[in-house]
Amino acid sequence: MNAIANRAPVSPPISSDDPGFALYVHWPFCLAKCPYCDFNSHVRSAPIDETRFINAYRAEIRHRAQIAPGRVVRSIFFGGGTPSLMKPQTVQAVIDAVAEAWTIADDAEVTLEANPTSVEAGRFRGYRAAGVNRLSVGVQALNDADLRALGRKHSADEALAALDIAATIFRRYSFDLIYARPGQSLIAWRAELGEALKRGSEHLSLYQLTIEPDTIFERLWRAGKLRLPDPDLARSLFDATQEIAEAYAMPAYEVSNHARSGAESRHNLVYWRYGEYAGVGPGAHGRLLTPTGRRAQSTEKHPEMWLTQVEADGHGLIENDLLSAEEQGDEFLLMGLRLREGVDPKRFEALSGRPLDKRQIKTLALEGFVVEDETGRLRVTPLGAPLLDSVVADLAA
Ligand SMILES: C[S@@+](CC[C@H](N)C(=O)[O-])C[C@H]1O[C@@H](n2cnc3c(N)ncnc32)[C@H](O)[C@@H]1O
Ligand code: SF4
Repeated sequence: MNAIANRAPVSPPISSDDPGFALYVHWPFCLAKCPYCDFNSHVRSAPIDETRFINAYRAEIRHRAQIAPGRVVRSIFFGGGTPSLMKPQTVQAVIDAVAEAWTIADDAEVTLEANPTSVEAGRFRGYRAAGVNRLSVGVQALNDADLRALGRKHSADEALAALDIAATIFRRYSFDLIYARPGQSLIAWRAELGEALKRGSEHLSLYQLTIEPDTIFERLWRAGKLRLPDPDLARSLFDATQEIAEAYAMPAYEVSNHARSGAESRHNLVYWRYGEYAGVGPGAHGRLLTPTGRRAQSTEKHPEMWLTQVEADGHGLIENDLLSAEEQGDEFLLMGLRLREGVDPKRFEALSGRPLDKRQIKTLALEGFVVEDETGRLRVTPLGAPLLDSVVADLAA
């Protein structure tokens, strides 16, 4: 059964106060581990038992629906790892289980993260038939030398071919690039970004390379074998990214995410607008609204241990904690101030039980790090954006 074709005709209102309910599904496997990546992704030599995974996803979806019954699902996101290694039938089975547990909104966004090898592009049509209506493709770089340095298993031509296939099958698709790569010059990035923007996708994720703990890149960097752009060049790369994307009518609506107006990722907006979401699969996170309050949930990260726990207990949760009012206020600021639209201080007050400190806002505004608009919303300025964490710490203090 195609659950999306049989969804209920419900289209709930969406606003920054009510961003709706979303489901994240984590697929924890990749063909190889990229040297910069610290996501919950694992490489296995033996084939994955997808039937076992389907049954475990089903059990977790039923479990979350018992905690948060009657929801209208506005978005489903298959993230990883590399979800484009899943069989389309597995994706279909998960979507069917969601339709049985909750109501899938008429206009639900169903995204799948894909790696752009030719083999995976061959499965795109199957995902569309299963109900996926938006693809997020991990291109990372548009030249082969940098793709090799990033440990990627695809060439630039293969990635562009995968984007062409995505564009014929999906009305909505996005792709990711990583910049501030070792040895990358400003001129080279400007040219590469221009090339990317000329493809005309409605959405682009542009991430500055970060050195994550316990990755091969971290070891190389500590050993002095990885030369990253210095802070001035990194800032110039960031500024050029904003300027060029804006010239193509793809402004940042979040620190690293650019979209045409109306083409923002609804799924990520649920996180950043501090909405409600369930997470299933190894290492998935959720924030569910229960009669006792907002709960922070996360599951066992190790794939086989997650399977074993779900088979024994019907869920893989290892964390299921009520969040205090203060914690909710902090999370709300940390997420919401990533967005260009900023946050509504009244919602902070409703969540945390206390107003934002007006003097602190004034100090940060005088320093040029935040602005309050005429409606009272608070936003971080381009000057404050690279200092987001400390701005949030000052506001939350
Ligand atoms: C879950 S990952 C990738 C999905 C898919 N497996 C892939 O590699 O294309 C989501 C995105 O995070 C970004 N990313 C991962 N590690 C990063 C890092 N250390 N610095 C910057 N971006 C990173 C990449 O652009 C990647 O596409
Ligand atoms: S970047 Fe993507 S493909 Fe590479 S290890 Fe991370 S999740 Fe896997």
